[in-house]
Amino acid sequence: MLVLGLESSCDDCSAAVVEESARGPQIISLIRKTQDHLHAPYGGVVPELAAREHLIQLRSVIQSALTQANVKAADLERIAVTRGPGLIGCLLTTFSAAKAMAWYSKVPFIGVNHLLGHLNAARFAEPNLPFPALALLVSGGHTHLYLAESWVNLRLLMKTRDDAAGEAFDKTARILNLGYPGGPAVDERAKSAVELAPPFTPPKFKDGTPSWSFSGLKTAVKQRVESNPALSKADESVGALCKTVNETITAWLLKPIPDFVGIHSAASLVVSGGVACNSELRAGAARLGKKLGITVSIPEPRLCTDNGAMIASAGAILSASAAPWTENADADLKL
Ligand code: KG4
Ligand code: ZN
Repeated sequence: MLVLGLESSCDDCSAAVVEESARGPQIISLIRKTQDHLHAPYGGVVPELAAREHLIQLRSVIQSALTQANVKAADLERIAVTRGPGLIGCLLTTFSAAKAMAWYSKVPFIGVNHLLGHLNAARFAEPNLPFPALALLVSGGHTHLYLAESWVNLRLLMKTRDDAAGEAFDKTARILNLGYPGGPAVDERAKSAVELAPPFTPPKFKDGTPSWSFSGLKTAVKQRVESNPALSKADESVGALCKTVNETITAWLLKPIPDFVGIHSAASLVVSGGVACNSELRAGAARLGKKLGITVSIPEPRLCTDNGAMIASAGAILSASAAPWTENADADLKL
């Protein structure tokens, strides 16, 4: 089955052609147009600017994906598009375009939950992933741990109480003037650093429930730099701070995993979302998986960030909705 996958729930406009077969999904083409240059001056995504840019880019992004795959719209057997959650203007642009394209080309169309997309990014490398799986989905908007009974069934186990892990990276980068988006910049600086900065104190939760919190980390980085402005000037101290932030976020994200693996007899762990591009998190999760004796699947970086291929991968195995034409994008779409 030939599937076109479209994703524009935030600031990336992406289209992919994916071939689904008994061997699993295979990427035939993948186009992704980032808007980093547009949002960089504001230090974060401006929803209205993002939606307008999708409107401008969408047609050529879809056309390029079809051309690169050497297929015509009429050759497609399914069009899969992100339905939510996400920024409503951004979602509506592509959802409406997908509907129109499907209607005109008489191709079945399916709305996909963005989080199911992130899970299904792992299907490209690990189509026979053992279930139940834990799915750690970490991005600029999400820091959620799910239990996946299958590729299309996610149940929330735990989430951040405040900021997402990606926000902590982005805010650290902003405090250190490393540019936007911050995660890749912090990661790069950390890789070349030798020394570590003093550790950060992990948050304590009075009610004792397993949880994450990243807003305190951002404040701690800010306070350190404000009380010692020289920290943000020298390459070595910036590198040391980035290395410590990288290791701290990785350690905090992975800390609850062993308990949840035990409670749910999980056979595998998927780590996906933009923050799963992080070198320390990738290495740490692989090490932890080995120690726990479970399969760890972390999609290649271009499939961790928002992309059309992951939406096609999920859309290929979801059952088609009964009323697709009356369905609409939903900013708060639940699983
Ligand atoms: O999934 P994504 O592309 O978009 C959404 O937020 O949905 O994730 C973007 C987030 C940003 O916060 C970005 O700084 C972070 O992922 N990120 C990273 C790395 N690459 C991207 N964070 C840490 N290390 C990285 N290498
Ligand atoms: Zn995402």
